[in-house]
Amino acid sequence: MAELRLTGVSKRFAAVQAVTDLQLHVSSGEFFVLLGPSGAGKTTTLRLVAGLERPDAGHVHIAGQDVSAMAPALRDVAFVFQQYSLYPHLSVYDNLAFPLRSPLRPTPEARIRAKVTEVARLLRIEDKLGNPATRLSGGQMQRVAIGRALVRDPQLYLMDEPLSSLDARLRNDLRLELKRIQQDLGATMLYVTHDQTEAMTMASRIGVLEGGRLVQVGTPREVYENPSTSHVAARLGSPRINLFARALVPAVAAPNDAVTVGVRAEHMRIHQHSDNDAHRAARVRRIERLSDRHLVHVAPEGSDQEWVVSARAGDSFAPDDAVRVELLQPLWFDAGGRRIDAAA
Ligand SMILES: Nc1ncnc2c1ncn2[C@@H]1O[C@H](COP(=O)(O)OP(=O)(O)OP(=O)(O)O)[C@@H](O)[C@H]1O
Ligand SMILES: [Mg+2]
Repeated sequence: MAELRLTGVSKRFAAVQAVTDLQLHVSSGEFFVLLGPSGAGKTTTLRLVAGLERPDAGHVHIAGQDVSAMAPALRDVAFVFQQYSLYPHLSVYDNLAFPLRSPLRPTPEARIRAKVTEVARLLRIEDKLGNPATRLSGGQMQRVAIGRALVRDPQLYLMDEPLSSLDARLRNDLRLELKRIQQDLGATMLYVTHDQTEAMTMASRIGVLEGGRLVQVGTPREVYENPSTSHVAARLGSPRINLFARALVPAVAAPNDAVTVGVRAEHMRIHQHSDNDAHRAARVRRIERLSDRHLVHVAPEGSDQEWVVSARAGDSFAPDDAVRVELLQPLWFDAGGRRIDAAA
């Protein structure tokens, strides 16, 4: 398996600057997740690595070799596309076997059969091997598309939202399965998603893309705990981080330039409000009861905002209760949304 390096990579389509000056290093055996909203440049980045697009500037290195001018077929990467494309006239078996029958990589039929059967079993489509590829559900087609990448042993896997069309149960299972396969193979993975759970659970490191720029790179923990912007903070975590105007929490000491404060649900505490509380009160609007905790939605008095606070399932709050909200780990952001160190 191989390391991947992008240096100063930019790509423009007519009026759209799709990616700008990307610097990215994925180590050999790493599971690197690109996370970002629609249009951020995630697919474009994968296509640049695969050689399906040529960069306007910059270089792509795979295993130390500059492949910027190399044809896609010679780059030895396996790509699972966002819009999966199967060969409709072939069976599921032949779709899975296809990459192994490439003249570039001749493989004995017995070995192909063993590999196809193994991958079909992993992806739970072994009973579909004889089906024409067109006679499958969307989720099954997506699994065949993933399988076509997994039958190979390439330098690099590129996967573009491979689990997005699957139901929740299968997505959970395959998330674990893909991660396990990647670890077993020691494979290098560049994986695109906008699902924060996938990013948090699968990634060794996450790169957050916004408007074609990489705005932060770090382990899931680092990005979650130390987001560099309010956008990044909002991208990771469920429920979404609470972001509100600093003026709403006058009693809390804030750095000078702070305009916005961000607090995650688990970094807030609510207490029943008492008359001698100096803090202004908030009111409970509704309560979402999850198995292990409750999410209490509260509205600060005199504001139309709603904050989501995590409470223990045993805590008894009811709609309309007056409560006091305590901020345990506020994150501060300036007018441009950039993070300010609390000590500043
Ligand atoms: N072939 C193309 N021609 C013109 N514009 C393009 C082309 N491919 C991508 N773009 C534009 O480049 C930008 C980045 O697109 P890209 O497909 O990389 O986004 P993405 O992050 O994959 O989004 P999504 O999550 O919706 O798949 C978008 O503004 C898109 O419209
Ligand atoms: Mg895309």
